[in-house]
Amino acid sequence: RAPPTFSPALATTVAGLRLPSPVGLAAGFDKDAEVFDAMLGLGFGFVEVGTITPRPQPGNPRPRLFRLAEDRAVINRFGFNSRGQADALGRLERRDRTRGVVGVNIGANKDSADRIADYAEGVRLMAPVADYLTVNISSPNTPGLRQLQDEGALRELLAAVRDARVPGGPPVFLKVAPDLGQDEPAQIVRAAVDHDVDALIVSNTTISRPPLRSRHAGETGGLSGAPLKALALDALRRFRSASGGQLPLIGAGGIGSAEDAWERIRAGASLVQLYSAMVYEGPGIARRIADGLAERVERAGFSSIAEAVGTE
Ligand code: FNR
Repeated sequence: RAPPTFSPALATTVAGLRLPSPVGLAAGFDKDAEVFDAMLGLGFGFVEVGTITPRPQPGNPRPRLFRLAEDRAVINRFGFNSRGQADALGRLERRDRTRGVVGVNIGANKDSADRIADYAEGVRLMAPVADYLTVNISSPNTPGLRQLQDEGALRELLAAVRDARVPGGPPVFLKVAPDLGQDEPAQIVRAAVDHDVDALIVSNTTISRPPLRSRHAGETGGLSGAPLKALALDALRRFRSASGGQLPLIGAGGIGSAEDAWERIRAGASLVQLYSAMVYEGPGIARRIADGLAERVERAGFSSIAEAVGTE
């Protein structure tokens, strides 16, 4: 089956990747790289598989996923369950790379003695099969992982990641949390630029709890979906002002409509990703948002989505 076609105004190039639509599937849905082609076929402009850790691990005990239907939200504490990178490698090697852009999101094993080495290993192993790599240091469900966002640890991590890259390899993105202190966006941007990171994904789930109605509101884990929207948008704006447009940004968190995606793009995102809204709206949401974006590009008098980035 031919890949879906989109309005030509939606085609965009970010970090050297040519995307037919800026609306991607965020990490966490296709953890083990099993359904990326199906998701591309359903209308996502790109798909991020993972998080995948070097070695297989079971993740946290069930229950570990909660639907907060009244809030259009999700809380998860999966804890990087995956069959491991070697297992995903085979499926990714066999894929038809002309079907679309597939990024591989890499993490560290919970019991790893050297988490930075796990990221370096992930870069080495998965680079040949990835259109891009995402270094995910923003999951709240592996104790201590988010501390890799602290300046010293982040610089050490990004130096190891850079050392593990080879010429001609895929671009590397860094995925950050929305729960950051005042100075952190600027520190992260400087560290990213200094170590040749190609883009930032803003953001992962939040450990904060904005007002929620659902009975699951008190569950431990990362909150995503509608209640994350304002926080993720605010984080994106902070990264945009810290980077001044010198580093591409990918907006994620609570995007559920074309208007949400458009707002994120005008706030500085070159691409967007979603997951939770698909839980409630179904996978057709990717196509609906793409169509709505194409309309907005035209209405605003732009010839391409790239012209809208950061125009708010
Ligand atoms: C996630 N997310 C996620 N992110 C990541 O980098 N690695 C992962 O393994 C996962 N796993 C995961 C599982 C579940 C059930 C959810 C809902 C989310 C985070 C996801 O990629 C995204 O950054 C946030 O969910 C915010 O976007 P949405 O869901 O509000 O559109």
